Amino acid sequence: MFKINENYQKLPGSYLFSTIAKKVSEYQEKNPDRRVIRLGIGDVTQPIAPAIIDAMHRAVDEMGNAETFRGYAPDLGYDFLRKAIADNDYRARGCEVSEDEIFVSDGAKSDSANIQEIFAESCRIAVCDPVYPVYVDSNVMAGRTGDYDAKTETWSRVIYMPTTAENHFVPEFPRETPDIIYLCLPNNPTGTTLTKSQLQEWVDYANRIGAVILYDAAYEAYISEDDVAHSIYECEGARTCAIEIRSFSKNAGFTGVRLGFTVVPKDLKCGDVSLNAMWARRHGTKFNGAPYIVQRAGEAVYTDAGKAQVKEQVAYYMKNAATIKTGLADAGYEVFGGVNAPYIWMRTPQGMTSWEFFDYLLENANVVGTPGSGFGPSGEGYFRLTAFGNYENTVEALERIKAL
Ligand code: MLT
Repeated sequence: MFKINENYQKLPGSYLFSTIAKKVSEYQEKNPDRRVIRLGIGDVTQPIAPAIIDAMHRAVDEMGNAETFRGYAPDLGYDFLRKAIADNDYRARGCEVSEDEIFVSDGAKSDSANIQEIFAESCRIAVCDPVYPVYVDSNVMAGRTGDYDAKTETWSRVIYMPTTAENHFVPEFPRETPDIIYLCLPNNPTGTTLTKSQLQEWVDYANRIGAVILYDAAYEAYISEDDVAHSIYECEGARTCAIEIRSFSKNAGFTGVRLGFTVVPKDLKCGDVSLNAMWARRHGTKFNGAPYIVQRAGEAVYTDAGKAQVKEQVAYYMKNAATIKTGLADAGYEVFGGVNAPYIWMRTPQGMTSWEFFDYLLENANVVGTPGSGFGPSGEGYFRLTAFGNYENTVEALERIKAL
């Protein structure tokens, strides 16, 4: 008789964004005349930029021609894309990252969920609280998190680092010693970030205690301030303690196309064992490479035209962020984030819980956001709005919220 992976049974409820989607479709079914504006999940709305679409068309044509047809992609990524990434995302910023330290994938979500596989089950993970749920859930599935306490909504073996308005959303070094530290900067969900010198302190700390930092930089393109690092490898010593995960979803609108990459420096070792070699082994066994057409699209993001068009799109979303931020502040709400990230984090009004405010906003303004408590216990009393909507809807959503 087969047995299941019992760890899955420990997962509470369904994935946050599935729960929200279900609630919204139930509401919409009961109220078909209401026009609901969705500022919940961080999914992009603007079409993929022309330079990227052109590159995809060319790649599609190549696939229809016997001379240029491609079968399986190299499982670590095509050289043309790995070179474009190394040149533009790293060398141009003075970071030492070579092509063979870059692993192209189908996105940052899968990489951030899968990367834990190369670490021992006994490793203790530390996460910011609130946190992108994938980091914790993937470790639950792997049996690394201990028991769930429904009352505190915490796992016994997870080290939580609260990031709230009280500590200006800057995590403190935990009292217990972690083996793996997840950092997402600029942060999802709070929309805040650390300065480069604050990040350097985390790199120094990780090197000191022998921990690895899993650094999710999916929102890097939204950084607007000078003293914020675009890559953890801008910090001295990061090559011996950090893995960086990047996405094409948020900067170039690839949420439905799927492309990302992970950097595992060759200097990152556990004794004599290279984590770069381990991840290459894992990739080779479990992944057959991102599609050629999609990797050509990714390459086009780094062309002059691609860069300019993508920059315009980021500016479009950041205009939404400013609209949300000032709109909420004018309406008397306490707001955070939205300067270096496409997320606005607000305190719920009048002591409402996050889910109470979710229902209130859905029913009275027909606007969907994300309840802060869905990201962890310290998210209770907060609420997230995304800047990834279209501008007209964003303006209308804010008018509706202001009119409440
Ligand atoms: C979010 O809304 O937090 C993001 O869409 C999550 C993701 O990118 O998977």
